[in-house]
Amino acid sequence: MSMPLPDPMILPSRRSCPFDPPEEYARLRAERPMSRLRLPGGRIGWLVTRYEDVRAALADPRTSPPLIQVTPATELPLPETELEVPPGVFSALDPPEQSRYRRLVSRYFTRKRCREIAPRLEQIIDEQLTAMIDHGSPADLVQWFSQPIPTRVITEMLGITEQQRPDYQRWILAMLSLDTGPEQLREARDGLYGGLGELVRARRVEPRGDILSDLLHGDTPLKDDEVVGIGALLLIAGLETTANMLGLGAFALLTNPAQAAALRADEGLLDVAIEELLRYLTIVQFGLTRTAREDLEIAGRTVRAGETLIVSLAAANRDPELYTDPDRLDLRREQAPHLAFGHGVHQCLGAQLARVEMKLAFGALLRRLPDLRLAVPPEEVPTAGEDKVFYGVHSLPVAW
Ligand code: HEM
Repeated sequence: MSMPLPDPMILPSRRSCPFDPPEEYARLRAERPMSRLRLPGGRIGWLVTRYEDVRAALADPRTSPPLIQVTPATELPLPETELEVPPGVFSALDPPEQSRYRRLVSRYFTRKRCREIAPRLEQIIDEQLTAMIDHGSPADLVQWFSQPIPTRVITEMLGITEQQRPDYQRWILAMLSLDTGPEQLREARDGLYGGLGELVRARRVEPRGDILSDLLHGDTPLKDDEVVGIGALLLIAGLETTANMLGLGAFALLTNPAQAAALRADEGLLDVAIEELLRYLTIVQFGLTRTAREDLEIAGRTVRAGETLIVSLAAANRDPELYTDPDRLDLRREQAPHLAFGHGVHQCLGAQLARVEMKLAFGALLRRLPDLRLAVPPEEVPTAGEDKVFYGVHSLPVAW
């Protein structure tokens, strides 16, 4: 007989398998799909776990994305940091302000634009794999492959130079690590905003062919601080997410060698396989935070105006109502929609770019290293569980 679930509870975070979300989610989804949740700051909110309810909550125009991101231990940014949305950070705004910015930025991330930049992406991927092969086996795939590829792509799109890149990477990593203390967090934010401020002032005077220049001098020119905010958002949203999908995705492929072999034999399966990896791994592990602006009802429960909802993408993406055998990685799974990129007006703006990066990167990895394997037992791979906003691996020792 199962014990009743405690209510209110704290956000589940302990995993027993590196690829599966915490076990509590399955029981919550089945028995208490809308549960009361004690937020780290002490307030009581809601945890939403069923696919249909998650979609409904994200599509509801009465819910807003606050600037905070709730994790099991903290509400980020920490309470002492100012909570005003910086100009341009449209992920934390509601329409119509959000849509105004989003329209201007989305043109750099369309399917067509991603096709156009594919040759450059292939070149970056090729260079990173060559560097790793030259370094020799064994090597850390995170260091040579999954971290540098998305970092080079997004910094290059923004016009950040190779010399400046390590600083940006460090600031973003610090901002997305849950071990960062308030002092270091402030330093990282100041570094990021200060660096982008300098870059934007330089592009104001002398535009180049990058996104920041374009936003400053395009048909709807934006103010300097708005462009800084957009740059910060693109770096925070586009770098660690894709990096973690590449690292964790490679880990999943290497522990499922028969499926990886099928993919290697027929790269035509890659599109479907990537959607399945996104679903199965759901790296936005603690879900999305929303605030109800008015009273609303989800799954028969009344959410009061002002209450916080934690909308679990990881739980929704394993909902047996939608997927047969949801806890199995099946790279040939018939295309079922997933929520790894969110849903509604804030659905990931960089989804096409992320997909193309993953397709080209996994394709090249399998092609160039046919004997790739883990260099340590799977249980020794250090996963980024409760210490990072996005789930992934800290390193992935591989041999070939
Ligand atoms: C596999 C990699 C990625 C995953 C899993 C991912 C996931 C997500 C999710 C779940 C959201 C919704 C947030 C919310 O509703 O509160 C989101 C939003 C966003 N993503 Fe991604 N993302 C990825 C890659 C990227 C890339 C490469 C970029 C571009 C540089 C990007 C830019 C954005 C932006 C700008 C938003 C905010 C959109 C808005 O609020 O209108 N993402 N992403």
